[in-house]
Amino acid sequence: MVRLPYTTALTTLFSYGLLFAFGQLRDFFRKLIDWFKAKNVKGYAPICLGLEDFYVRRLYLRIQDCFGRPIASAPDSWFDVVERYSNDSNKTLQRTSNTTRCLNLGSYNYLGFAAADEYCTPRVIESLKKYSPSTCSVRVDGGTTKLHTELEELVARFVGKPAAILFGMGYVTNSAIIPCLIGKGGLIISDSLNHNSIVNGARGSGATVRVFQHNSPAHLEDVLREQIAGGQPRTHRPWKKIIVIVEGIYSMEGELCKLPEIIAVCKKYKAYTYLDEAHSIGAVGQSGRGVCELLGVDPADVDIMMGTFTKSFGSCGGYIAASKEIIQHLKHSCPAHLYATSMSPPAVQQVISAIKVILGEDGSNRGAQKLARIRENSNFFRSELKKMGFEVLGDNDSPVMPIMLYNPAKIPAFSRECLRQKVAVVTVAFPATPLLLARARICISASHTREDLLKALDVISRVGDLVGIKYFPAEPPKIAEAGHDKLE
Ligand SMILES: Cc1ncc(COP(=O)(O)O)c(C=O)c1O
Repeated sequence: MVRLPYTTALTTLFSYGLLFAFGQLRDFFRKLIDWFKAKNVKGYAPICLGLEDFYVRRLYLRIQDCFGRPIASAPDSWFDVVERYSNDSNKTLQRTSNTTRCLNLGSYNYLGFAAADEYCTPRVIESLKKYSPSTCSVRVDGGTTKLHTELEELVARFVGKPAAILFGMGYVTNSAIIPCLIGKGGLIISDSLNHNSIVNGARGSGATVRVFQHNSPAHLEDVLREQIAGGQPRTHRPWKKIIVIVEGIYSMEGELCKLPEIIAVCKKYKAYTYLDEAHSIGAVGQSGRGVCELLGVDPADVDIMMGTFTKSFGSCGGYIAASKEIIQHLKHSCPAHLYATSMSPPAVQQVISAIKVILGEDGSNRGAQKLARIRENSNFFRSELKKMGFEVLGDNDSPVMPIMLYNPAKIPAFSRECLRQKVAVVTVAFPATPLLLARARICISASHTREDLLKALDVISRVGDLVGIKYFPAEPPKIAEAGHDKLE
């Protein structure tokens, strides 16, 4: 729950108002100039009309150097960020051949598998030689290798479901699967802060979509009761089926889903549950099995478990795990399975190897150590940030921790100053968040050492003072000071 201070809300609104007014003024003069020299109009309507790209042109481009920074190494705990410059007030950015070694607080490399790993990397290289980077074929033609079937079985065993199916992209997993599960006459009830891939999948399904207040089982129950009583629009017939869609860890909030309560409501009203574990699978739970394990939920109570390989497993692609019947249905009906090239074999091998390390099937206890480390690192970092007076969202154990910035001017100030001090952070603003709720999203990794975290805390604290984002009184910062002394 964000506690947006009243004055902060006012100053943030004022800043956006000012940017909007200046943008409009510039657009007005731009139109005048274009009107005088409008000779090159060839009868086509402009691709972007009026206000459609206003936000990008007049707000985003001013600070675009804070986003999409190219990197020149693996996204490990430290990585090389490519230096860029602009000669036209940030409208275009030119890459240089220089890089800066920065502490990486932005990648979803939760377990540290995205960098070279003694178990995974040699196996991935071997699979690259044996299978090549691409199968050049869809799953139902020549795109199913032994690795694909092995991973489907492994994923099903890992998450505790009877069967699983793979997709080449996490985003596509949601956006292509949801329309195969439900359509016209069905009802999707979606958490208000669900990821865009879920939103697009739900819209594309043709089902009626209703939203419940973020992570509120009570509001979910209200919506369910109201919708079941009313039935389908116009005909008032009963819904053909109802699916409730939630995430394990909300990627912009770092909050854990109130899964046990939500499942209880779904069972009461006979609604199916669809759980997106993109950020939680591998990252939380005693043995990395995600929020079900962490919150004591039986996977049998979740009807459809979705996840991605792009976070904890350091690879790419996504999966759906469910009953054998549902997976069979998806294999016969999902266009992303029938018509899209299958997951790259080395990417599949990376996930197989990472899961084996997590399960200890590589013959070491590195998986258990990584899981302990991510938990310790996340909880340490979160509690230190809070002691410093930052407004930090999310729950304990979650490796995602947003630090609230609010004001648009604080987005580039925070991002650029951290980068200057060799700490790379990701800042997130509208449309990925509500307009007033811009934030820096810190992602902690098991590969961060205590020294890395102390450096990060030291820099973030100093930049936080400079930018003015410590919204609460600080506790005496014992550990942070110790870290500061140590680093100096
Ligand atoms: C909750 C959620 N679902 C799905 C996705 C899409 O996954 P991918 O990036 O692997 O395509 C993301 C991406 O971050 C996500 O946060």
